Amino acid sequence: MALQAQIVGWGKYLPSRVLTNDDLAAMVDTSDEWIRQRTGIIERRIAAPNETTAEMALRAAQDALRMAGISSRDIDLIIVATATPDQEFPATACILQDALGASRAGGFDLSAGCSGFVYALAMAAGAIAAGMSRLVLIVGVEKLSRIMDWSDRSTCVLFGDGAGAVVLRGGEGPSGILSTTLGADGSGGDLLALRPKVSDDPNGRGPYITMDGRRVFKFATRVMPSAVSQVVKEAGLSLSDLQLLIPHQANQRIIEAACEAMGFPMERTFSNLERYGNTSAASIPIALCEAAEEGRLADGDLVALVSFGAGLSWAAALIRWGRAERVVWY
Ligand code: UT7
Repeated sequence: MALQAQIVGWGKYLPSRVLTNDDLAAMVDTSDEWIRQRTGIIERRIAAPNETTAEMALRAAQDALRMAGISSRDIDLIIVATATPDQEFPATACILQDALGASRAGGFDLSAGCSGFVYALAMAAGAIAAGMSRLVLIVGVEKLSRIMDWSDRSTCVLFGDGAGAVVLRGGEGPSGILSTTLGADGSGGDLLALRPKVSDDPNGRGPYITMDGRRVFKFATRVMPSAVSQVVKEAGLSLSDLQLLIPHQANQRIIEAACEAMGFPMERTFSNLERYGNTSAASIPIALCEAAEEGRLADGDLVALVSFGAGLSWAAALIRWGRAERVVWY
């Protein structure tokens, strides 16, 4: 029987510096009122200039490993989902592997924009089911402040930095990842992209994010309901069986529109974007972590994760929450 990937530990890291809407209003032509009304965001965290993506990933990973009660030497695969690695290579996962002393682990970075963490969950679930891996560490981490155009009010008010991690272990029993779906539509790639640095840029910007917000908004509200329906259906269940939906934390209006389209109650949806903004690949693992900390996940609960982002890409996963009934070591 194929093993299921069960979440046995989770952790997060948020940098200490808070950037409020009022702080942003002093930088660009915006206001606290506009940002709250159009996005639901009140503040976000910003990493220190010398704080790296790998360091943030390490803090979240250590938290998750401590909770799982496992040694880093037992991990056999590390996947880091990020759009903001410190450098093109080596992979952040390899820097993390060394920092953790995960001497038996392979590691790679996964680039799927804001969908990266859910993509990584799907890859890990597959590796565990195939018997390729037994303990997988997944981190979603971003230092988006590094690629922000701080003169563009249509993007700089949206994003923040942070990291979230989970440890997955192969096990038997009802809990674990039940189904996943992945999607991509590269024809929309230009709608959300990293513009390369040009030498004669009048603002002296490095590479920076550009986005057609309105079109990404429409795309998100279209793909989220269908991805959630798909994972629920694949598991032979229905939307009403879901105890909690953890959507990508991009915009409260997107979450509300997607829930309305699905006929899913907002009370069963998790949101923390007012405090962190959009942390891209880190948004879902941070939210998952906080949902667990706040007691919103009980053993046996069905929770769906759904994300969308650059690529364009989208992904969803359905999880039966609960600690492993029987640990399988091979
Ligand atoms: O992880 C995926 C990442 N991307 C997203 O999630 C983005 C999805 N899109 C969105 O969240 C929304 O489209 C935004 C929040 C980006 C924008 O909200 P919107 O309701 O779609 O506004 P809009 O782009 O249609 O702009 C409305 C007005 C425009 O002014 P005019 O042309 O009507 O005079 C903008 O110039 O709001 C203006 N505007 C702002 N005003 C104050 C745009 N950004 C700001 C701002 N402050 N920060």
